[in-house]
Amino acid sequence: MILLDGRTVTEAVAHLTSELKDRYRLLSEIARRRGFFWGSFEIYGGLSGFLDLGPLGTGLKREIEDTWREFFLRRHGFVEISTPIITPHRVLEASGHVENFKDPMTECTNCHRRFRADQLIKEATGEETEGLNLEQLASLLAKVKCPECGGILGSPQYFLTMFKTSIGPYGEDQAYGRPEAAQGIFVDFHRVYEVMREKIPIGIAQVGTVLRNEISPRQGPIRLREFTIMDFELFFDPDNPECPYLDEVREDQMSIVTEKNRTGGNAEALQVSTGRAVEQGTIKSSWAAYFMALSKRFLSQLGIQTQHQRFFEKLPSERAHYSAQTFDHEVKLDRWGWVEVAGFAYRTDYDIRKHMQATGADLRVFKPYDSPIEKTVRVVKPNHDKIRKQFGADAGRIISLLAREDLVRTIQDKKTTDKVRIDSYEVPIEFLEAREEKVKETGKRFIPHVVEPSFGVERLVYSTMEHNLRMREDRLILSLPFKLAPIQASVYPLVNKDGLVEKARSVHDSLAQEGLRVEYDDSGSIGRRYARADEAGIPLGITIDYDTMKDDTVTLRDRDTWAQIRTRVAQLEETIHTIVNKGFPRVQE
Ligand code: GLY
Repeated sequence: MILLDGRTVTEAVAHLTSELKDRYRLLSEIARRRGFFWGSFEIYGGLSGFLDLGPLGTGLKREIEDTWREFFLRRHGFVEISTPIITPHRVLEASGHVENFKDPMTECTNCHRRFRADQLIKEATGEETEGLNLEQLASLLAKVKCPECGGILGSPQYFLTMFKTSIGPYGEDQAYGRPEAAQGIFVDFHRVYEVMREKIPIGIAQVGTVLRNEISPRQGPIRLREFTIMDFELFFDPDNPECPYLDEVREDQMSIVTEKNRTGGNAEALQVSTGRAVEQGTIKSSWAAYFMALSKRFLSQLGIQTQHQRFFEKLPSERAHYSAQTFDHEVKLDRWGWVEVAGFAYRTDYDIRKHMQATGADLRVFKPYDSPIEKTVRVVKPNHDKIRKQFGADAGRIISLLAREDLVRTIQDKKTTDKVRIDSYEVPIEFLEAREEKVKETGKRFIPHVVEPSFGVERLVYSTMEHNLRMREDRLILSLPFKLAPIQASVYPLVNKDGLVEKARSVHDSLAQEGLRVEYDDSGSIGRRYARADEAGIPLGITIDYDTMKDDTVTLRDRDTWAQIRTRVAQLEETIHTIVNKGFPRVQE
């Protein structure tokens, strides 16, 4: 028998076995052939850093996103919002991205191609480069040549990796494509908090497109200039930082490459339970620890085995500007080694504080005490008589302007001869009188702290596919879990005559009506249809043959074992339900 590009079975098996060593190449072929993904703008020659998802890729992405929603949002009552991709300059200036969202770039002095300096050095020398400054990178670049022409590389400079744009016909408002979905959440935080009846902790999520103008992306679906992020920000009271769900995952084991080990020159991963990682201070926030443990379960549900997962703590020099502690959740991939698919950042009150400073908006939350607390506080009040005597008719206006000021701070460190400028008036400091007062405090106002789990969806789509790729005899099988499979069952008439097509269509329609993701396929031999379905990750095949016309039974075929059973059409739905919950029945050989 001749198979695959004219190879015999033995040659094809040898070929595929060696190909499986480069799963990326193999998967890229299946992905294109079956409609999962391919490089964008193909007919125009392609453009690196952009990826198109086909019908199956889009379906898989949607199922991964929904599984994530189930894992992280629904069970905790977290909410999801949608905010614009275009973001004004002032928002990203306040958040620190305009200053910090940049990568080091070097240009070849000969061919003038531009590269990301740190990645080039890492690829050429194997040295860790994240977080190095320009001077350190420049000295390492001296050892590296241009990968395109062998020329000398120039001094590195920073390149802002946000896509710039302007808003409106006059281009007067500078803006960027958002590099993270999080800022939309921070800007809207207080409104959502009010809508959700002012409860803390609160989780606010966003799933959407982000843009990063990567300097020279060369890693296919792994490094994209436009991709989907699934983020949520968990806002909590820093005086009450314990995660109430931690017990659910306390015994879950984690593999963590810690900052401490890394700085001590030890790249070994620490094996530790989630509870212990919190107790010994390895993970500073118990919320972060809880979400990391859930993330490990989530990836396992996608079919990524735990030995191919680890957490990697970033060094202070590698962390994003807003983070007090960051762990990357990494997956081992065949071509690229350990790759980040999610990040867990403890953002403290950094972002909300920055947006308060930039806008003057009060984004703090109010938390009532169980019972009011009596406190002695220092208050500063204007002496109305003195103000009236000196400012006459303007006194009322001055008093109301003073009422808007934080007068305790205003008179701090002032001398008795000083004056306070308020609008166009100069009010002598002695007109402001400080005294101690007893007050009843009914609650406290504070800026919440934030823990952020953030997932890259296209990387998850790719990792899910790679980790579910199997070979059986000479054939490739994408063993996607039933729940994730974009198509869960395919219905085949054995031949396209004698009423089999009509019967197959009616079986297809009734399963579709029951909510199963099902397709109808009558093209090519049944063997080819099975092979196509295996590569497309379709868990069940339902074949209508001549016996169906006699006794109303169909063949059910299992993608992973190729085992077959017969079942009545009337019991098909129930049989599928049993298979999904208990697996395909064992079949006598
Ligand atoms: N907000 C997560 C990130 O920018 O990676």
